[in-house]
Amino acid sequence: METDKDIYILGIESSCDDTSAAVLKNGILLSNVTASQAVHEAYGGVVPELASRAHQQNIVPVVDQAIKRAGIEKEQLSAIAFTRGPGLMGSLLVGVNFAKGLSRSLGIPLIDVNHLHGHVLAHFIHESEDDHSNPPFPFICLLVSGGNSQIVKVNAYNDMQILGQTIDDAAGEAIDKCSKVMGLGYPGGPIIDRLARQGNPDAYQFAKPNIQGYDYSFSGLKTSFLYSLRDWIKDDPDFIEHHKEDLAASLERTIVDILMKKLRMAVKDTGIKHVAVAGGVSANNGLRNAFHDHARRYGWTVYIPKFSYTTDNAAMIGITGFFKYKDKDFCPIEAPAFARMEN
Ligand code: KG4
Repeated sequence: METDKDIYILGIESSCDDTSAAVLKNGILLSNVTASQAVHEAYGGVVPELASRAHQQNIVPVVDQAIKRAGIEKEQLSAIAFTRGPGLMGSLLVGVNFAKGLSRSLGIPLIDVNHLHGHVLAHFIHESEDDHSNPPFPFICLLVSGGNSQIVKVNAYNDMQILGQTIDDAAGEAIDKCSKVMGLGYPGGPIIDRLARQGNPDAYQFAKPNIQGYDYSFSGLKTSFLYSLRDWIKDDPDFIEHHKEDLAASLERTIVDILMKKLRMAVKDTGIKHVAVAGGVSANNGLRNAFHDHARRYGWTVYIPKFSYTTDNAAMIGITGFFKYKDKDFCPIEAPAFARMEN
């Protein structure tokens, strides 16, 4: 039933290489449209200038489709939520300026969303009113993506405390770089995941970091992987081809072990046993299995998002925007994009 009080939020995400738009009605997702950029595959990583140009081409049709699929007119929108940062500046600017222009032309408020908060709140995306499958507050969230690896204590929608984070590479970045060293495609995460399913996770040992507290480090593992491969290739030039499944499985096992060790510490110390995972790497089957295994072994209640809401998407920006809308937490039109958290 339509009422004047219905809240329609348009979410816009453009922080890296996915242009995405979503529409939510009263916090329920109506549409989520994402255009991914294949142009980067040839370069083995995201090329910022190409990403920015592709966002410019995609933003109008993606937003148009999201509004059409939601079955509404843009004049019905209550507010526009957009990713303000962190991310690639050239990419962010496309979404940020589009959101500002549209909000000004429609005369509706703007809501700025932190991309990382969006990943965490992806657990509150509901596709129907009967879906209530979100974690209760407080919960612990392992946020693992191409740009971040964090353990977050989530006290409320708008109250998140970072307990630990990577001091160098992110988990996804380490996977992507090791995959590149193996001559596999980009992004490496899904390829490593697929190969790992057919390999032996105990075949090879790689360096694990020894870092205090809840912080992570993945640069030592990356170097250890590279140097080990160099040695093995000296004896067998086709080593990677002959052993790619075992290499992928052992790499994945090492990364999952590193991630879960610190997470176990955080759960033990806080006593919070509701544990969620978010971000692109949460699509990984080895990590998902480890979560289920910890649920059985340690009595955790685990929350694993649908595949479509693990990688960058506007539905998570829309739901974060919805909560901020209810708090009337709007942002001024001059609010600049930010590439890094400390800005
Ligand atoms: O969250 P996301 O889409 O982008 C960032 O905000 O960074 O995460 C992308 C990262 C990439 O490093 C990609 O390789 C990784 O998520 N990823 C995976 C899998 N799917 C995506 N890593 C491991 N296994 C997967 N199945």
